Amino acid sequence: MLSEKMWNALNEQIKWEFESSYLYLGMAAWLNDNAYPGFAHWMREQAKEEQGHAMKIYGYVEERGNRVELLPIAAPKKTWESPHEVIEQSLKHEEMVTGLINRLVDLSQEEKDHATFAFLQWFVKEQVEEEDTFRKVLDELKLVKPTCSAMLFIDRHMGKRSGD
Ligand code: FEO
Repeated sequence: MLSEKMWNALNEQIKWEFESSYLYLGMAAWLNDNAYPGFAHWMREQAKEEQGHAMKIYGYVEERGNRVELLPIAAPKKTWESPHEVIEQSLKHEEMVTGLINRLVDLSQEEKDHATFAFLQWFVKEQVEEEDTFRKVLDELKLVKPTCSAMLFIDRHMGKRSGD
């Protein structure tokens, strides 16, 4: 069984992962509505990944013999200025999630919960990958203006993302 503190923190992280998914779906909806179908597809794929993260923790909590407690998730904002802003805010969001994962790791050490510590290592590595993915897209976008025709090519490229 998980300690009360660890259980609460993991439930909270399940919420954050679903909230990330919700945020990226919201971004996908805005992108699609603003004629960026490739970026919208890319964000929907990212949203699926976040659901996968949430379910990974969900499964782990159950595996430890605890019941999952789902918490309310906040609605994302509805509009953004450009794909640039979407990706910039996504990167900031991922950096925030990295901080949350690091806090979970700290807690697992404080609680001497070696199993949870080992479980969380996957997320530590995943966050490095997540930040890197968003940073690379942002670097590419920094090379072009939001109104430039190169955006069309980037959008087509983003539309090729397949499920990971
Ligand atoms: Fe599940 Fe993108 O962090």
